[in-house]
Amino acid sequence: MATMLSILSLVLGLLSFQAIAVPTPFHPRDVSPALPNQRALQNEIGRSLSKKAALYFPGQPEYKNLTTRWAENISPGFFVTVEVGTEDDVATTVKFARKYNIDFLAISRGHGTTKTLSTVKNGIQINLRQLQEITVAADGKTATLGGGVYNDNVVNALHAKGKSSGSGAAGCVGLVGAGLGGGYGRYEGFYGLVLDNIIDMNVIMADGSKKFVSATSNPDLYWAMRGAGHNFGIVTKLTYRIHDEISPTWYLNTMIFKQDKIQPVFKQLNKLIANGTMPARVINYALFAFNPNISTTEPVITINIFYVGSAQDAKPYVQPFLDLKPVSTRSFTTSYPDIFYAAGTGLNDFVCQEPIGSAYLYPMGLQTYNVPVIAQLFQLYADKVKSNPDFSGSNVMLEGYSLGAVKAVDPASTAFAHRDDNILVGFLPRWTPGANLEREAEEWGTKARTLVQSGTNGRPLSAYVNYAHGDEPLEAVYGYEPWRLARLRKLKKRYDPDFKFRFYNPIR
Ligand SMILES: Cc1cc2nc3c(=O)[nH]c(=O)nc-3n(C[C@H](O)[C@H](O)[C@H](O)COP(=O)(O)OP(=O)(O)OC[C@H]3O[C@@H](n4cnc5c(N)ncnc54)[C@H](O)[C@@H]3O)c2cc1C
Ligand SMILES: *[C@@H]1O[C@H](CO)[C@@H](O)[C@H](O)[C@H]1NC(C)=O
Ligand SMILES: *[C@@H]1O[C@H](CO)[C@@H](O)[C@H](O)[C@H]1NC(C)=O
Ligand SMILES: *[C@@H]1O[C@H](CO)[C@@H](O)[C@H](O)[C@H]1NC(C)=O
Repeated sequence: MATMLSILSLVLGLLSFQAIAVPTPFHPRDVSPALPNQRALQNEIGRSLSKKAALYFPGQPEYKNLTTRWAENISPGFFVTVEVGTEDDVATTVKFARKYNIDFLAISRGHGTTKTLSTVKNGIQINLRQLQEITVAADGKTATLGGGVYNDNVVNALHAKGKSSGSGAAGCVGLVGAGLGGGYGRYEGFYGLVLDNIIDMNVIMADGSKKFVSATSNPDLYWAMRGAGHNFGIVTKLTYRIHDEISPTWYLNTMIFKQDKIQPVFKQLNKLIANGTMPARVINYALFAFNPNISTTEPVITINIFYVGSAQDAKPYVQPFLDLKPVSTRSFTTSYPDIFYAAGTGLNDFVCQEPIGSAYLYPMGLQTYNVPVIAQLFQLYADKVKSNPDFSGSNVMLEGYSLGAVKAVDPASTAFAHRDDNILVGFLPRWTPGANLEREAEEWGTKARTLVQSGTNGRPLSAYVNYAHGDEPLEAVYGYEPWRLARLRKLKKRYDPDFKFRFYNPIR
């Protein structure tokens, strides 16, 4: 259906352009005067794309669908969307954009939250949603994934064959978008990050050329694209390492505590995390949020303990939290794909709704919780959500994945610089669109960051690129060892000298 519509739209576009109701052609001041209008676009690029491709302009219903983002305040500016059908379509579109000196940006699932995405002006969106190949190799050791796949469809396709691999923790998020910067998820204690499972990639470079990138083919790019990939190219396809499923069942216990228990709860989390040595089968995930089942006036602390295995085997990890007397507990024993839903992060769950409102995200990587500071963070969070209902949907995610397989990888072997972090704190101001609260959200996020950093004994800010707000020092995002940024900058000069990939926490 979608393909038929795309073809229909392309045909309509080519044959009877006038029939499509679109706003006046676009006349930018800041780009080449030769910039094509919509008719020229249809004539020039429309004809050189594959039959599967389609162009959409503002005003068309499908355009709205393709430009809707998870956080609606993040707003890259486009005047056309090219929904590509093939790898060649990506190359053609990049070359076209270069010819006219137009910004371009690949979009997969639209979950990126860095505000640098909003610096795209009058650009071309290269929409990857048709690139959904998921093919498991005959030997069951690898899978071929298209550049537009997302966690839900990968996890389910692999599960159907008794396989699993690294993926993000929310069904809706692009696996490649996440993987090019890291890719934290519940199986990483066994498999490492998403990027640790990338064997090779087909990449469209800034000049529209194609490169095959692996440990032996363009190894410098293989290093850079695993951690800073959004800065180097568009991945149309990759080969992914997959594994036999570890366990037929996953267990989850979700416990809710009120503020009075925050200190003992986080002391217990520190014991469990044990400076990054928590067993591979255990995952902890804490959340500060309103939960109307418990209270409509006070936010609460949710502690999720996941276990790869049975309830019985999970008990030693769960019981110490139960002993702290949560006000509510719920437990689930289910398959790996269904644990996404048990945790409220499934494709159809609230967190995956688009748009979810206006939001910013502030990451802080930690080794251990400074318990009194975490108690102050809760207070900073609670004061705002209680005093301003427009912020009531904000939350704080405190993610403690198991790290064995992540730490087993030589940190110098990829551009991902955060293998020493044991905890990822994500402070998420979320507010009612139109409430004009951007500045207040940023002040709040900055305060949270300063507060959390005050408790790290001088360990500098660690900012996961996929959660970065966009104002962090580049060292916080790409690593403090001077050789890291030096190497990234050198490669950037070689592979993207005109700075075309500059919209996702760019390496300047
Ligand atoms: C609800 C939610 C849950 C999340 N959960 C997790 C999680 O569990 N683990 C985790 O690690 N992160 C998580 N994230 C962060 C996530 O990694 C980033 O938001 C990521 O950028 C999303 O990719 P996307 O394709 O959905 O977004 P998009 O906005 O479409 O893309 C983000 C960036 O990636 C680039 N990109 C996307 N696909 C490609 C490609 N094929 N080739 C080259 N560049 C590409 C885009 O150009 C853009 O710069 C979550 C975010 C949200 C909003
Ligand atoms: C876009 O369209 C697809 C397919 O019809 C649908 O599943 C998706 O929910 C739509 N997204 C938005 C944001 O409207
Ligand atoms: C935690 O582990 C790191 C290595 O990952 C080490 O450098 C650090 O000293 C450890 N901290 C404590 C308190 O043991
Ligand atoms: C509230 O309780 C209902 C019923 O048990 C449950 O379905 C829902 O997920 C709960 N909401 C939250 C936010 O926990």
